[in-house]
Amino acid sequence: MLVTEKITAEQLYQKLKDVKIGGQVCQYSREKCEELTPLINEINELKREKNACILVHSYVTPEIIYGVGDYVGDSYILSKRAMETEATTIVFAAVRFMGDTAKILNPHKDVLIPGLNDGCTLADSINAGQVQALRKEFPGYTFVCYINTTAAVKAECDVCVTSSNVYDICQNIPNDRIYFLPDKLMGQNLVDELAKRGVKKDIRFYNGTCYVHEEYDAEQIFKVRTEYPNAKIIAHPECNDDIVKNSDYVGSTAQLLDYMKTAPDGEFLMLTECGLAGRLQVELPGKKLVGSCNLCRYMKSNSLEDIKRVLTQPTGRDRIHIDPLVMDRARRCIEAMFEYAQ
Ligand code: 13P
Ligand code: SF4
Repeated sequence: MLVTEKITAEQLYQKLKDVKIGGQVCQYSREKCEELTPLINEINELKREKNACILVHSYVTPEIIYGVGDYVGDSYILSKRAMETEATTIVFAAVRFMGDTAKILNPHKDVLIPGLNDGCTLADSINAGQVQALRKEFPGYTFVCYINTTAAVKAECDVCVTSSNVYDICQNIPNDRIYFLPDKLMGQNLVDELAKRGVKKDIRFYNGTCYVHEEYDAEQIFKVRTEYPNAKIIAHPECNDDIVKNSDYVGSTAQLLDYMKTAPDGEFLMLTECGLAGRLQVELPGKKLVGSCNLCRYMKSNSLEDIKRVLTQPTGRDRIHIDPLVMDRARRCIEAMFEYAQ
């Protein structure tokens, strides 16, 4: 749904006043909301004029999510929304690989990315040449890539997955030899989960990590369980296997939010990027978060100012451009995911 109505500073403040994450980065006073509101209204007006829609990952700042975001979600849901939108311009407030995915699925649309620091430690950990070398080393393996990869890497792989479908898709692939890349922590979790399901496959994986999720340590879980014996622990599958084994629920950012929606109110330790904690503070105030969370410097490099800038004066760097041949091959890899996910 495109957000185009005008918002008042008081409405924004009422929405964001309970957000308390990341020190001063995401805290909202009435004065701050008064400063943000004219820019939010200007962006929403620009969207209408330019037939643009803004896709937002849950890890970006709350003023973007609740001020100008038309669709907010995880990588899988946002890639679906990118295909469904009738807008001719997509602004993707997230990181570059997500903008790449939107462009691959919408080659005739203008896809703009406002993030100034648009990398991702996972997507940057492997390149196409390295995948080609691995394919020679592991012939007969199905190459499965996490969506956190560049278009060129996807072009060299067979099937793409996201954190919401990695286990089911790898189980369903009709090959018992799988090479998963680039996340070694998710790779180990995949091995463990398939073993738990009684699925016998030879799974190899690459050695990338997400710098935000690898920081979490199972020690945090044990401390929280001592202090808050009834707390539920929920984690993203980019965390290490010790965390995953000791958590009550593991899933993508959207799955974690859905889990919280149906869970009884109480205490929760949430082991993922802080943006999701912000969404809970706005949408599910009955859930009390305990422990701390880590920020992703890439996701947090999106700003309202840069969203306005890319809508009015985009530079070559803001606009996604992918070689058509790479785009066609990468699209096959993403479409294979949609087929398996059905
Ligand atoms: P989700 O698909 O779960 O939103 O994860 C994306 C991501 O970058 C996690 O670090
Ligand atoms: Fe990449 Fe980690 Fe940031 Fe997600 S949280 S975008 S995996 S660096």
